[in-house]
Amino acid sequence: MPKRSSWSTRFGFYLAAIGSACGLGNLWRFPYIVGENGGGAFVLLYVLFALLIGLPLLIGELMLGKSTHQSILSATATLSLTKKYVWIGRLAVLISLVVLSYYAVISGWVLHFSTQFLVGLIQPQILMEKGRLELLLSNGWLQMGLASVHLLLAVVIVLKGVQEGLERWIGAMMPVFSVLLVLLVIKSLSLDSAAHALRFLFYPDFSKLQLSSPLHAIGHVCFTLSVGFGTMVTFGSYLRDGDHIPTAGFRVTMVDTLLSLVSGLLLFPIVLQASNIPLTDPGLLFEALPRFLLSMPGGVIFGFAFFVCLYLAALGASIGLLEVIVSNLVDRTKMSRSFATYLSGAAALVLAILPALSSSAFKNFRLDGKSLLEILDDLLINLVLPLIALGVAWAIRKGLSQREQEKLFVDANKLESVALFSHWQMVMTWVIPLVIGSAFFLQILEYIRR
Ligand code: PHE
Repeated sequence: MPKRSSWSTRFGFYLAAIGSACGLGNLWRFPYIVGENGGGAFVLLYVLFALLIGLPLLIGELMLGKSTHQSILSATATLSLTKKYVWIGRLAVLISLVVLSYYAVISGWVLHFSTQFLVGLIQPQILMEKGRLELLLSNGWLQMGLASVHLLLAVVIVLKGVQEGLERWIGAMMPVFSVLLVLLVIKSLSLDSAAHALRFLFYPDFSKLQLSSPLHAIGHVCFTLSVGFGTMVTFGSYLRDGDHIPTAGFRVTMVDTLLSLVSGLLLFPIVLQASNIPLTDPGLLFEALPRFLLSMPGGVIFGFAFFVCLYLAALGASIGLLEVIVSNLVDRTKMSRSFATYLSGAAALVLAILPALSSSAFKNFRLDGKSLLEILDDLLINLVLPLIALGVAWAIRKGLSQREQEKLFVDANKLESVALFSHWQMVMTWVIPLVIGSAFFLQILEYIRR
């Protein structure tokens, strides 16, 4: 087996893992599913599940990668002689491919707004007229074009390999993005609706929850932490000896969860102030933010910087997804890395046709009032992903030997890691299956009730 390269610095791992975790899930998806699920109580569920389910799973995936030095398919294949866990690896790679395809479409929207704001720097009038989401949504081929550009960029970066490909790109923009976000949040919290928004986001009114909300929260936690896709297994396989996995997992979870909350703080004052934007719309971010930016002095410059940073974040996450597919193909077949990369990019592009055309050519295809893109998102993230997460938890707990788990988790210099180890095992074996199982039960009840 060829020896794996590893991150040249510990910081390199964080940059890549955070770069993969932080993306559209935090800024695009989080606000609208919070809107869909009624606000504060859902936010509470989300934070709770991030710590109770997301963090232990993230740690588990990193351990699996570190222990096997392989990507998820080979890693799950080596866990047992009977190869009983491989189907989990296969599902994870498959979902990565489908998610990459619709992620590319939304990344295309971000790319579109970046270019609109760039044009707006010179001709603000054009931005006012053309920078609207409906115009983009009605043009399926434009969305396809943008998704292609996005996928091509991701392919080129992944072709360069993990060190150059991932670390530098993502590393450079995160601090800039954070400063920009903080400035925008300050501005948005100065709106009259700020108090209302804070109450909406942080006051838990449990009567607003639906029976499906727990499963939605779990799905979103997995999505936003990139858990259940095999991404973190791949990243773990590049970890160096001496890196303490639970600490790494904890930091990544904290940064990612904080970013989601910040994006809620940014968006909800704007949305509630405008009062005519539906809270449950997947276009929420793109409807609300440009209007707000255009109404503030210097907003076009801020808007341009914001969408470029968001685009880079989306690119980082897409690279993570593509990397999973490619590294698995390379590990499991005789394909060269470059061929595997082109092939995965092309497959994602073909699959992107459905979501890209969901609000134009396929706009009449609706189920329960939902567009094709929403159906795909719902099916993959709210139903399939929690199931894969369940499988991953099982494979890690039962597949890795007790000694190996202990070796990877416990750090002799950190006394608390001894106590935490038994908690982690308990959560992986009992809590995660029980919570995900109950959430599915509630979801089924909701289906029956309808
Ligand atoms: N976690 C990313 C986000 O929140 C999405 C993602 C999922 C990226 C899986 C890589 C792998 O946007």
